[in-house]
Amino acid sequence: MIEDPNLIVGLENADDAGVYKITEEIAIIQTVDFFTPIVDDPYIYGQIAAANALSDVYAMGGKPITAMSVAGFPIKTVDMEILQDILKGSLDKLREAEVVLVGGHSVDDNELKYGLSVTGIIHPDKVFTNDGAKIGDKLILTKPLGTGIINTALKAEMASEKAISETIKSMSTLNKTASEVMIEMGANACTDITGFGLVGHASEMMLASQVGMIIYSNSVPLFTEVKEYAQMGLVPAGSYANKDYCKPYVEIKPKIPAPLLDVLFDAQTSGGLLISVSAEKSKQILLKLHNHGVKEASIIGEVIKEPKGKIVISS
Ligand code: CO
Ligand code: CO
Ligand code: CO
Repeated sequence: MIEDPNLIVGLENADDAGVYKITEEIAIIQTVDFFTPIVDDPYIYGQIAAANALSDVYAMGGKPITAMSVAGFPIKTVDMEILQDILKGSLDKLREAEVVLVGGHSVDDNELKYGLSVTGIIHPDKVFTNDGAKIGDKLILTKPLGTGIINTALKAEMASEKAISETIKSMSTLNKTASEVMIEMGANACTDITGFGLVGHASEMMLASQVGMIIYSNSVPLFTEVKEYAQMGLVPAGSYANKDYCKPYVEIKPKIPAPLLDVLFDAQTSGGLLISVSAEKSKQILLKLHNHGVKEASIIGEVIKEPKGKIVISS
């Protein structure tokens, strides 16, 4: 364990980013995220990579201010123009977020990778961590699920235009507005949904907060046709791994369709925020999210007392 009186959030609760206090008024948030291309278009890939990297700062309730690019690039086999288009997409997204790119580093690599390290600021007393979920809270998810499954369908050339465009739009959408609404309204805990899937990231919050959770599977927003693709077995390996890993923390009620379960465990790229908020505030925050363009935000579950340490998946 790393001991430092100014370290507000470290590695202990699988939070989205590290938080370090500089003064009584200001703490810095630091995070890094990068991955191999998930779409063919390098400009869109750059946008998604930036939205995804910024998301961890938004999930902590912070304001991202600067970013640095991290790239692995096959210099000998891939045209440099590709890298320039990736950077352009990334820069446009950073501009939208009012974040300044201050530098970066690239290395020769067999496989293309791109991402960013992002630094944000926050008041040391106003950090949204995983350990604050309270019994009786409602759980709000701000983006639909299924990017992993739809990408798998895309690679198999089975995905429809509608499913592809929906997921691309969602993955490149910043969690900025959702985070700002959450900060304004107040919430008890927050994380973003990425590679570990909805249930995986919810289980991190559930364990850190020492509570139980119930997820109403029929209330979870999904992308078009995602259940059909799951039914066809177009599920990425990472999503099966998530299901295995989460097994000790999950109680699945009977008669939940298998494809729907696959989506709940599906590894996401640049997914939405999962916000734990008091029942009293939940309707207001949801309305405000909808009014500010976060149209798919939905109440998908609750924080419960028993069974402690479990996520119940119900219909
Ligand atoms: Co995160
Ligand atoms: Co991350
Ligand atoms: Co968080």
